[in-house]
Amino acid sequence: MRETFDIASWTGPFDADTRTRAQTALENGSVLYFPNLAFRLGNSEMGFLDARLTDGKAKNISLDHTSGKIQGTSAVGEDAVRLAAMIERFGAGATEFVTGLLPGYAGLERARTSYRPVEVEGRAYSVISDDRLLHVDAFPSRPMQAGRRILRFFANVAPVKANGGGKRRWHVGEPFEPFARKFVPRLRPHFPGKSWLYGKLGVTRGQRSAYDEMMLSLHDAAKLDADYQNNSPQSAVEFPPGSCWLVYTDMVLHAVLAGEFALEQTFHLDVAQMGEPGRAPIRVLEKLTGKMLG
Ligand SMILES: [Fe+2]
Repeated sequence: MRETFDIASWTGPFDADTRTRAQTALENGSVLYFPNLAFRLGNSEMGFLDARLTDGKAKNISLDHTSGKIQGTSAVGEDAVRLAAMIERFGAGATEFVTGLLPGYAGLERARTSYRPVEVEGRAYSVISDDRLLHVDAFPSRPMQAGRRILRFFANVAPVKANGGGKRRWHVGEPFEPFARKFVPRLRPHFPGKSWLYGKLGVTRGQRSAYDEMMLSLHDAAKLDADYQNNSPQSAVEFPPGSCWLVYTDMVLHAVLAGEFALEQTFHLDVAQMGEPGRAPIRVLEKLTGKMLG
């Protein structure tokens, strides 16, 4: 469920036992928890602890490290440059940490970095975009095609409060296979023509595979099922200010109930790079459906 690592340094080397334990736990669907790994803001960055930094439309501020382009923020000029620099400092540090911890993942690709400065609790969302409901991650515009994994590293950068506040609170659900077993029989069939069209029109970056369509359907079906939300097995986990965590969010059912001021780095990984590729969602779904999905 949650596997704790007593690591306080962003740079390795990490010992072989720790590395093996980390990769195995991740692939088994655990959330790796680093209670003593704090991402500290500089004094000049404290002003970024402000929900008004978002543009009011996007939930998150995101940075594309390849172009340096920042999106979703109301900050302009020098402030935007400094904000991008803070997010990049986190993203680069997260990448060094994760690649050091998981050297077996030689092809790990750094994707977007995001900053989430808005309190989750009490916001209004549509059901499909409400991440306070249990879900696995799947993104309409970003196909994972042959089952590329979505691995995410988070840091709670909220100020430490005397009353123990500022925690990021998640619920984590049952393992992927029993979840998929319940929902897969209810999903609509996949029409390859739609994926081809979306790819051509630029709605998606590349073409959605049958796997992508199935993951999007699972994401939506879980959120729309009130009985599943209320009655499926789930446990509460908390990430206090000054901690970090790492999880395959395409596999671990999660709901983000409360918290503000988190930074997040997304990574992608080909299934073949895993120690146990058979645990990847695509392989589990292929087993359940008897079809090739990638
Ligand atoms: Fe999510």
